[in-house]
Amino acid sequence: MNNDLLKSKIELCAEKVNDLLSQTLGKKDDKFAVLFDSCNYSLLAGGKRIRPFLVCEFYKLFSGNGEVSNGAYDLAKAVEMIHTYSLIHDDLPCMDNDDMRRGRPSNHKAFSETTALLAGDALLTYAFETISSSPYLSDSQKADATLILSKRAGIRGMVGGQQIDILSEDHPQDYETLLYMNSLKTGALIEAACLLGVCAANIKYSDSSDEYRIAAKYAKGIGIVFQLVDDILDITSTTEELGKPVNSDKENQKTTFMTFFSIDKAKEIADKLTEESKCAIKDLKNSECLSDFADYLKDRKK
Ligand code: IPE
Ligand code: IPE
Ligand code: MG
Ligand code: MG
Ligand code: MG
Repeated sequence: MNNDLLKSKIELCAEKVNDLLSQTLGKKDDKFAVLFDSCNYSLLAGGKRIRPFLVCEFYKLFSGNGEVSNGAYDLAKAVEMIHTYSLIHDDLPCMDNDDMRRGRPSNHKAFSETTALLAGDALLTYAFETISSSPYLSDSQKADATLILSKRAGIRGMVGGQQIDILSEDHPQDYETLLYMNSLKTGALIEAACLLGVCAANIKYSDSSDEYRIAAKYAKGIGIVFQLVDDILDITSTTEELGKPVNSDKENQKTTFMTFFSIDKAKEIADKLTEESKCAIKDLKNSECLSDFADYLKDRKK
């Protein structure tokens, strides 16, 4: 697929998801107006929306349907809400202490630390309300989606990864722990997005089912590469381009891919892992878009 076509597909999906997210919290309740504003401030600040794209593309891959279903969009919204909450909390002074996100002041800078904390809590919870109240998903899909997402967002997923990341500020980690941390803090939600797409395609969830195994294998490579590229961009890019502070990792004395490797060597690792992701889907019909998307994520500049 040519790169312009892929880019326009990604943009189209992001526009649709932005539109849906802008309606998602519904009418502003005056009693918690500030919390509504704080949630929407971060949720509607742009963002690349790569997790929703993965939900939609895995839905298409395994449903054989070229049009994304409303159920898939509900799952795409849910994973993006959890991702946005993770960013709000990640920026807090007690975490990475970063003042900018998605091209604007971080949530706690625009509102307050307390409101940012609560906005994160609200988005996390609303993600599961979105799944359980969806009129487009069967009860079985709702149960599967809840399990898929909660497991990967929580203690053995993204949150656990963030805990290792924070502990590492005082105790440099070895490479094996770095890989483990990244597979959790970033990889887990990326995996959730891929698996939710399979769930939206109405395939019953089981770790041993071929479809879920393929989706998890694809997610594994791109999940690590996504954080690896994030670590590179933290030292090579600009705040303007990224919409978030650069050199944050160094200031916080984080162990990242850049602790162990030169940029060239890190890129070599990214090439290899990307090939592994592409290999996971190569025999499937209509897998070209996801294959090209893996390259796109590796070569991204923001
Ligand atoms: C940033 O995620 C945090 C990481 C997991 C590296 P994204 O790079 O997807 O951030 P947005 O959603 O585009 O703002
Ligand atoms: C964050 O990793 C992963 C999350 C779970 C939010 P980083 O701390 O490197 O993400 P950025 O660079 O702040 O976006
Ligand atoms: Mg962090
Ligand atoms: Mg951070
Ligand atoms: Mg980073």
